[in-house]
Amino acid sequence: MSPAPAITSEGLHKAYGQGPARREILRGINLRLEPGEFTLCSGPSGSGKSTLLSALSGLIQPEAGRVTALGQDIWTLDESRRERFRLEHLGFVFQGFNLFSALTAREHLLLILGYMGVRGKEAGLRADQALAEVDLTSCAHQRPATLSGGEKQRVAIARALVKRPRLIFADEPTSALDRRNGELVVALLRRAVIRQGATVFCVTHDPRVTPFADRVVAVEDGRIVNDSRHTVN
Ligand SMILES: Nc1ncnc2c1ncn2[C@@H]1O[C@H](COP(=O)(O)OP(=O)(O)OP(=O)(O)O)[C@@H](O)[C@H]1O
Ligand SMILES: [Mg+2]
Repeated sequence: MSPAPAITSEGLHKAYGQGPARREILRGINLRLEPGEFTLCSGPSGSGKSTLLSALSGLIQPEAGRVTALGQDIWTLDESRRERFRLEHLGFVFQGFNLFSALTAREHLLLILGYMGVRGKEAGLRADQALAEVDLTSCAHQRPATLSGGEKQRVAIARALVKRPRLIFADEPTSALDRRNGELVVALLRRAVIRQGATVFCVTHDPRVTPFADRVVAVEDGRIVNDSRHTVN
């Protein structure tokens, strides 16, 4: 028997606008993500990739269909339980880094750990370990304004990984970065798959990400039009 899926979606629909302005963005997406796999989601601009990521991760409620993450039907949870579920199990990495200007790299990690109830010495150790994993030990006390783009994205990755999440969602994590930093970021996501058994769903236009992915799901006009697996070296 195959292992329980990390995420499944059945018949996901989402539209924006009313009346004649109504546009269907997701048109019945059925997807099953296997645990410990790195899935890349590709497709033209406006095809619905970010909307799909948001629906799978509990950020945007679909109009119809179901999302089950780690066995939990996420859209039947009330909002505070869904928030809790996201905090405990999901890590996010976005194109724009989404860092707080007042916080140092290390404080970003301590904040998340604090939300999770991890404080004091244990939190400090975990934060330092996560910073070391992304090679940012020397930048631990810098705020975003003094970090390079690649360093900022590594803070965002450390913030996602410090929770040891089972599911990681990344939306265009490399598009603001140069070649070397882009590759570094994807390699770090890949490492989370290998070391932590995380399941990664990564939306990207970036062909450099493809060699790191076990599977490529292509979306066009709100539908999955291709789904292929390959072996990662
Ligand atoms: N809140 C919203 N209100 C109205 N339309 C929206 C909203 N969010 C997204 N859309 C529209 O839905 C469509 C799909 O958006 P989405 O962000 O999912 O595309 P995408 O595939 O991620 O594109 P890109 O590659 O450019 O990031 C776009 O045409 C967008 O304008
Ligand atoms: Mg997008």
